[in-house]
Amino acid sequence: MIIKLKPKIQRKPMDISFHKSKSHALSYTGSARQKLRENPEILREFLKMVANKGFPEIKTDKFQIRRLSITKSREDASYNTSLYSLEFFRNGKTERYFIKELDIQDFFRLQRSENLRYDVDIIDKINRHGIRGFGGSDGFSESLALKIIADSGVVGRRLDIVNSVFSYVDAIKKRSFICYEYMDLKTVSELYDEHKISKSQKESIDRYLSKVATRVENYLEKNYSKYGFKTAPKIFDISPQNTFYDPVKKKLHLFDSLLIT
Ligand SMILES: Nc1ncnc2c1ncn2[C@@H]1O[C@H](COP(=O)(O)OP(=O)(O)O)[C@@H](O)[C@H]1O
Ligand SMILES: [Mg+2]
Repeated sequence: MIIKLKPKIQRKPMDISFHKSKSHALSYTGSARQKLRENPEILREFLKMVANKGFPEIKTDKFQIRRLSITKSREDASYNTSLYSLEFFRNGKTERYFIKELDIQDFFRLQRSENLRYDVDIIDKINRHGIRGFGGSDGFSESLALKIIADSGVVGRRLDIVNSVFSYVDAIKKRSFICYEYMDLKTVSELYDEHKISKSQKESIDRYLSKVATRVENYLEKNYSKYGFKTAPKIFDISPQNTFYDPVKKKLHLFDSLLIT
């Protein structure tokens, strides 16, 4: 008798490449690269942002960048980030992306937050390595953290990663951003606050996410050298605030992970 095993969902490896020097870092997917080539004006806006804090709001016949004001979900945010949407107009269709500008200096404000149990760790790491080692609150490290999470094999029927398509860090000017595919979903925390998921559902998701975090930690302890690290970094923030939930497909989508070297 042949016993059929449930096929394990095999996720295609992420089409994303990472490049870094001592002062700059960049990640992009193949299609983001293509889009930036086709729309050099966008790259010009990105570079302006690197020079001066903030994207200008801009609309051309090809694309639009707008500032987003998301307040409710951000009450518990421990540091400031600016959020934007980027829309491409093509053949009557709109393709939407989400941009988060991270102020690298704000990273230090994490020290003051009381509800982050890993504060001591972070302060220790900053003191030893400084921000230039990469690994911290910057777009590149965030994008790399999500790639590592995907590589660790946790993606499946219940969980996916929000695709980061582009990230950039200028460590000298301390400017950074990350661009994600736009997700029209609410986070687990928001849904719980709005009574759209029950306490027991929320608790079950919390338990699941902490299992995911443990699995990622174990993976990283064995595989850190693959990613060019000399010791195993830690990935934090796999949390209900940083996880969208699709109640129809019953699927979780992780974003905003923190990589500390
Ligand atoms: N890919 C995305 N698409 C649409 N909205 C997003 C996306 N990523 C994040 N957001 C929204 O922005 C909020 C803040 O994003 P997050 O990455 O968690 O920022 P922070 O680093 O400040 O915690 C999220 O709670 C969510 O409401
Ligand atoms: Mg967050």
